[in-house]
Amino acid sequence: MTAKNNFDNDKTAASRRITLDVNNMFAARLGGEYGIKKSQVADLKARTRELHYRIQEQKPGFTRLPFRQEKVITRIREMVEERAGDYDNFVVLGIGGSALGNIALQTALNDPYYNLNTGVREGYPRLFVPDNVDPERFAALLDFLDLERTVFNVISKSGSTAETMSLYLLAREAVAEEVGQGRVAEHFIATTSKDSGYLIEIAEREGYPCFSIPEDVGGRFSVLTPVGLVSAAFTGINISELLAGAADMAERCWEENIWQNPAYLHGALQYLAYQEGKRMSVMMPYSHALKDLADWYRQLWAESLGKEVNRKGERVNVGPTPIKALGATDQHSQVQLYMEGPFDKIITFIEVENHRRNLEMPKLYQDLDGLNYLGGHSLARLLNTEKQATERALTKRGRANATIKLPEVTAFTLGQLFYLLEMETAFVGELFNINTYNQPGVELGKNYTYGILGREGYQEKKEEFENWSEPDPDLIL
Ligand code: PA5
Repeated sequence: MTAKNNFDNDKTAASRRITLDVNNMFAARLGGEYGIKKSQVADLKARTRELHYRIQEQKPGFTRLPFRQEKVITRIREMVEERAGDYDNFVVLGIGGSALGNIALQTALNDPYYNLNTGVREGYPRLFVPDNVDPERFAALLDFLDLERTVFNVISKSGSTAETMSLYLLAREAVAEEVGQGRVAEHFIATTSKDSGYLIEIAEREGYPCFSIPEDVGGRFSVLTPVGLVSAAFTGINISELLAGAADMAERCWEENIWQNPAYLHGALQYLAYQEGKRMSVMMPYSHALKDLADWYRQLWAESLGKEVNRKGERVNVGPTPIKALGATDQHSQVQLYMEGPFDKIITFIEVENHRRNLEMPKLYQDLDGLNYLGGHSLARLLNTEKQATERALTKRGRANATIKLPEVTAFTLGQLFYLLEMETAFVGELFNINTYNQPGVELGKNYTYGILGREGYQEKKEEFENWSEPDPDLIL
């Protein structure tokens, strides 16, 4: 099977590049009172250079992903080929960083009604990513699936996350009942760290094919590892183009000059805005295909930058709050607040120049003056005009905003976007001088769950939880 959405390779890389426009972050556009001054960015130049070399030295794992995965890509492709036609359903069992990238890829690069439309799927399996342990939803999924025709990719870097492992246990039992113990291995793939956790042990015991998550790549930075790539390849996405896009952006992000590196420039502006009280960062794509990219970004930004202590161990409690919004939908929900509420947000629009499909509005009701202006325009024009109008209005009101523009939503542009946002996150983490790659807050919650449910080694957490003060009944209505 070949990937469905091979990109037109005749176009040069330059014409396929995404761009970043930060004009509307600056005082020149917003008015002195609200905008950032160019001198403030210039003041960060020396620090940026220093942090650039620090990042180069640290070599965060995600920075190498676009370049070191030929063998993995070949293996994934071979598996997709070998199993072509075997499955109607591909289910990702994972959560957080082990699920959100898969969803973002699917929404961005496959047909909006992919699961419902056998015509557009052309023999590729449907994709399901429950990303939760909601019993009603998972029971309904198991009821719906023909398990004879289903494969589950169990994804967990730690190999022990309660949500993922509990869904696995249920799926394992349901599959065994349906197909018999002897054929269970045909229905599971494991994606995990090769040196730790239980998933690798289970995969070995059961004979599941296994993909490794590199040790130095954290969950939320792992979309371009087998975590995101396997389900993408199984649904026909061109994974080589994704990595090519990421490689192209990596090259742009090797630049130490803040004015020329899009990740550093946008990151620095977000950081400066945060210091001035704009503590919320809205990502607002004007493309439904990128809706879940904003969800992926929300987790990347929140878990990476929301930290209690800095690298010196001092208590800092930093972190901009990421918010996802969707144009034009949220113009009728959120924009009133962005326009007139507190000056505590910056907005990053994502605009798509050429939408993959378009519809021209018919010239009906020409006698109705308030309606006849629509006839002859396309929906793409309407959507992009709404973005430009909202951007203009926000700017006029002194609301800081920037635009990332994609020539088109393709695997190549999405790869650029993933890498850009990951590098920006890494850079902002350096500016805050925090550890971008840990998540002690998440771990604490996980440990309480383990303790309460009786996992060995977590008795102390169970006792701590049970010894909470009694709730005040007056406060429960
Ligand atoms: O970004 C992260 O590290 C987390 O969101 C993890 O991806 C999430 O907690 C799931 O962890 P794991 O892949 O170990 O099951």
